[in-house]
Amino acid sequence: MRSILLSSIFLLIFSGSCLAILDAFTDGLDLGGYSLPRSVNNYELHDSCLIELRKQMNLEKHASLVYKQMAFHFGSIKMARPGFSKIFEHHSTEEHEHSNKFIKYIDLRGATIGSFNITMPHKTSWSKALEAVEDAIELEHFVTNEIIRIHRIAEKTCKDVHLMNFLENDFIEEQISSINKLMKLATLLRSVGGNDGGYGEYLIDRDFFNGKLSLDEL
Ligand SMILES: *[C@@H]1O[C@H](CO)[C@@H](O)[C@H](O)[C@H]1NC(C)=O
Ligand SMILES: [Fe+2]
Repeated sequence: MRSILLSSIFLLIFSGSCLAILDAFTDGLDLGGYSLPRSVNNYELHDSCLIELRKQMNLEKHASLVYKQMAFHFGSIKMARPGFSKIFEHHSTEEHEHSNKFIKYIDLRGATIGSFNITMPHKTSWSKALEAVEDAIELEHFVTNEIIRIHRIAEKTCKDVHLMNFLENDFIEEQISSINKLMKLATLLRSVGGNDGGYGEYLIDRDFFNGKLSLDEL
C-alpha cells in the first residue's frame, strides 16, 4: 500500500516535470497548425531580404544582357573581333546563371520571384575593346557593392545566416576574382596600345579566339 502511494507520488512529480519540459519547448509555438512567430521562424525569408534578392535576380539578368550586347557588337561586321565576342558571350552566360541561382534560392526559401523587372542595356556600341572592358569593370563594381549591401541587410535586418553564407560562398568570392581579371585585361590592352584599338587589340583578340589566352590565366 505504501509502495503504491510512493510510486503514485513519483508518477505525479515525474509527469509534472515532463509537462514543464514540454511547456518550455512549445512556448510560443503552435504545433497543431505548424505556425511559428516571426522570431523563431528562420526558414522563411524576411520581407526586406526577399525584396533585395528579387532586385539582384533582375540585376544579374541585366548584366547578362549588357554582356550579350557587347558579344554581339564585337562579333559583328562593324568590329570583327571574334575573340572579345567570345569572352563577352562567356560573361553573358555566367550572369544568366547568377540570375538563375537567385531564382533557385528564392524558391529554396519558400518565397516567390514575382514578375521580372529587368532594366534593358542602354548602350549598343563600343569603339574599342578597352572601352567595353572599362564598362564591364564598372558594372562588376556595382554588382559587387549590391551583393555586399544585401549581405549587410541579411546580417542586420533579417538576421539570416543561411542567406549570408549563400552570398559569401556563391558570389562574393567570384565577384572579387572577376574584377581582378577584368582589371588585368584593361592593363594589358592599355600596354599594347589598346587606347586606339589597333594592332595590339587585334593580337589579343586572336589569342582569345584561338584559346591561347583566357581570362583565368591573367
Ligand atoms: C522596376 O525596377 C525599377 C528600378 O529598380 C524600379 O524603380 C521600379 O519601381 C520597378 N518596378 C516595379 C513594378 O517593381
Ligand atoms: Fe554576376
